[in-house]
Amino acid sequence: MTDSRPLAVVTGASAGIGAAYARRLAADGYDLVLVARRRDRLEALASELASRHGAEVEALPADLTQDAELKPVEDRIARADNLEFLLNNAGFGTSGLFYEASLESQVAMHRLHVMATLRLTHAALRQMTAHGKGAVVNVSSVAAFITRPGNTSYYASKAWINFFTEGLYLELKAARSPVQVQALCPGYTRTEFHDVMGFDRKLVPASLWMTAEEVVEASRRGLTRGRLIVVPGWRYKLVVLFLRLLPRPLLHAVARLSPSRFGPQTRL
Ligand SMILES: NC(=O)c1ccc[n+]([C@@H]2O[C@H](COP(=O)([O-])OP(=O)(O)OC[C@H]3O[C@@H](n4cnc5c(N)ncnc54)[C@H](OP(=O)(O)O)[C@@H]3O)[C@@H](O)[C@H]2O)c1
Repeated sequence: MTDSRPLAVVTGASAGIGAAYARRLAADGYDLVLVARRRDRLEALASELASRHGAEVEALPADLTQDAELKPVEDRIARADNLEFLLNNAGFGTSGLFYEASLESQVAMHRLHVMATLRLTHAALRQMTAHGKGAVVNVSSVAAFITRPGNTSYYASKAWINFFTEGLYLELKAARSPVQVQALCPGYTRTEFHDVMGFDRKLVPASLWMTAEEVVEASRRGLTRGRLIVVPGWRYKLVVLFLRLLPRPLLHAVARLSPSRFGPQTRL
């Protein structure tokens, strides 16, 4: 890696929001480390970004639910003196009642959304706070603001991401550090996410779907404005405002409506 360009590490870079974010960072002058399980996808994106933007791009394949594969990513971050950006984005959804769904998939989700985010953020903030610059964006969801039957681990792990990021924000502010953190909370976004989950997109009105590029643009704008929580799109801003204002018993009533109205797979 060259010293002149800042380095960004992007997890979940083989598809969707992560791939779109990596493209945007390369265009903005970053070198990149791309992380996900599918090596072929990462290598194809790496050569695209190298030829289009002259970026130095490293494909680092890893299943972040596995400690032995997470460790090399942590180590890569820990020795990156030019690290200025980390996107903790790798994620997936499941559906079904918690006690009926496989325990394995629930544990894997927490390993990915919680433990990988925690460990990679720890490694990154050590670097960034020492150098006095950089940003960590943790991809959460509108799901962080409510919980509904059928996706308990997803909602809980995304709520954890928001609280975790908020805590870091306060710590960095208290230390007067210029390092930024952001919880990026998209609503329905057209990516491979719903294919992986086996979710029928037709259940959601077309007007509610956003593109990965719109989500990335909102995150970048949020960073220039120093925003902790970024909810892309005016519709989802209204949804979140509504959810935040609603008293808990009413929130539970809204949550209970969703499986019967939209089917157990539906989530934001
Ligand atoms: N799409 C939406 O509507 C939506 C809404 C709100 C929040 N989000 C959040 O946005 C983030 C990105 O999702 P997306 O919509 O872009 O979905 P996506 O297109 O399915 O991309 C998910 C990415 O995560 C990677 N990944 C999954 N499991 C992994 C593992 N065990 N280890 C390493 N990488 C793994 C996948 O790569 P490999 O399969 O190659 O490993 C892929 O690159 C997720 O955190 C999701 O919760 C999405």
